[in-house]
Amino acid sequence: MILTEIDHVAIAVHDLEEAIHYYQRAFGAEVHHREIVERDGVEEALIKVADSYIQLTTATRDDSPIAKFLATRGEGLHHIGYRVDDCNGALQAMIAAGARPIDETPRPGSRGTTVAFIHPKGSHGTLIELVEE
Ligand code: CO
Repeated sequence: MILTEIDHVAIAVHDLEEAIHYYQRAFGAEVHHREIVERDGVEEALIKVADSYIQLTTATRDDSPIAKFLATRGEGLHHIGYRVDDCNGALQAMIAAGARPIDETPRPGSRGTTVAFIHPKGSHGTLIELVEE
């Protein structure tokens, strides 16, 4: 089994502050990490749940993929991040299994991770992110 853990469940939100406050009120959640990822046009807040995270994500500019997602689909589940030991090895295994990569090779993600995204088409409707810590 290539996957070692659910790294994060990413949820697209319009207003990051409001979403954080909601998770604080509803669950007593605390933000473990917060980061703006300029190349992806996103700001994210990570809420730790055991060894995984809920990743509340919003757009920092109108042309970011999250902005387009929010405009067309509204708020909601955006992608699942699966933790792996070897991002490139996992990516090649997925491609061999028929997956459609968005990233042809792994690239830097948030928190100093190495990541690769896989298109939902070909993966039963889920945008998948492979995450190597
Ligand atoms: Co992610």
